[in-house]
Amino acid sequence: MKKLVAGVMACALMAGAAFAGGSQDSGAAAAPADSGNDTIVVGYAQVGAESDWRTANTVSFQTTFVPENGYTLIFNDAQQKQENQIRAIRDFIQQEVDYIVLAPVVETGWETVLSEAKAAGIPVILSDREVKVTDESLYVCWVGGNFVKEGEDAVKWLDAYLEEIGRGDELMNVVILQGTIGASAQVGRTEGVTRLMGEKPERYNILAMQTGEFTQSKGQEVMESFLKAYPDIDIVIAENDNMGFGAIDAIKAVGKKPGEDIIIITFDAVRAAFERIIAGEINCAVECNPLHGPRVAEIIQKLEAGEPVEKKQYVDEGVFDIKNAAAELPNRAY
Ligand code: AHR
Repeated sequence: MKKLVAGVMACALMAGAAFAGGSQDSGAAAAPADSGNDTIVVGYAQVGAESDWRTANTVSFQTTFVPENGYTLIFNDAQQKQENQIRAIRDFIQQEVDYIVLAPVVETGWETVLSEAKAAGIPVILSDREVKVTDESLYVCWVGGNFVKEGEDAVKWLDAYLEEIGRGDELMNVVILQGTIGASAQVGRTEGVTRLMGEKPERYNILAMQTGEFTQSKGQEVMESFLKAYPDIDIVIAENDNMGFGAIDAIKAVGKKPGEDIIIITFDAVRAAFERIIAGEINCAVECNPLHGPRVAEIIQKLEAGEPVEKKQYVDEGVFDIKNAAAELPNRAY
C-alpha cells in the first residue's frame, strides 16, 4: 500500500509453483507479478515445506493474502534453514514491504535481523513458532498453537487410554521422535510430554528421544534405528504426523502392527492422520491448527486501523482418536 515492491516475474512463477505443488523455491524472496502500490505488501518468511501441516499453512497464507483482499504476498520458503529466513527478511526490508510475517525455524538468533526490521519501521508478526528475544518490542505479536499444552494433552490422553485398555499398571517403554531441535514446536511438545511422563516413572520409561526434523523420511530412518536398538517399544510419540507416518512404515517393515503392537501418538492432526486413526494405525493425534493466514490478516487490519493487538494469541486445538475421528474427518480443512 505505502511502498512499491520490486516485483520479479520469474520469482512470481516460482512462488506459484511452490503453492501448487508444495515444492521448493530457490530461497529468494518471491514477488507476485501484479504486485502494485495499492495493496498492503506482506513478506512471509516461511519455514519450508517439510510436512503436510506446513503445506496447509502456506496455502492458508497464499489464499488469504491476495490482491482481491487488498494484499500482495511475497513468499519465501527457507527450506528449514534459519540463515535463509534471515536473508529473506533482509530482502523484505530492502523491498520496503509493509509487514513481515515470520514463522521462525528455531527460537534463538533473531535479535540482529529483527532489530534491522524495527529500525526500518516494518512491523514483524510472528506466526506458528516463537522467538526468544530479550527485547519483546522487536515483534508486534505472535499467533500460534500452545505447544506445551499439546504435549501435555498427549500424555493425558495416554493416561486415560492405558487405563481403558487395562494396561494402567504396566511400565511402558516410550520413544520420542522430536521435531527440529530448537523449534518452539519441538521445545514445547518435548517439555509437555516429558514433564507429565516424568511425574509417573512407574508408568512411563522414556528409552530414547531423537530428532526426525519434522519430515517423514527422517522419522522413518530414526524409527528404524530405535527398533533395532530397543526390541520392546510400547509407545511412539511423534512430534508431528509426518514423522508418525514414517514410523508406521518402519514398524510395518519389522512385522509389527502400528496402533496395536505399538501405540502411536502424533501432533498436527492433518487429514492423512485422521485416515490413519480410522485405519487403526495411529491411536491419537493432537491438533496443531495451521490456518494462520486469516488470523494474521485480522491482526494486520487492526494495526492498519490503529487498534491494539494482543501480544500472544493462542488458537484452539483438539485431541482426536478412534472415538471422534470419523465424525470430524468431513470437516477437516487440511
Ligand atoms: O511448528 C509447527 C510444526 O511445524 C508442525 O507440527 C510440523 O508439522 C511443522 O513442520
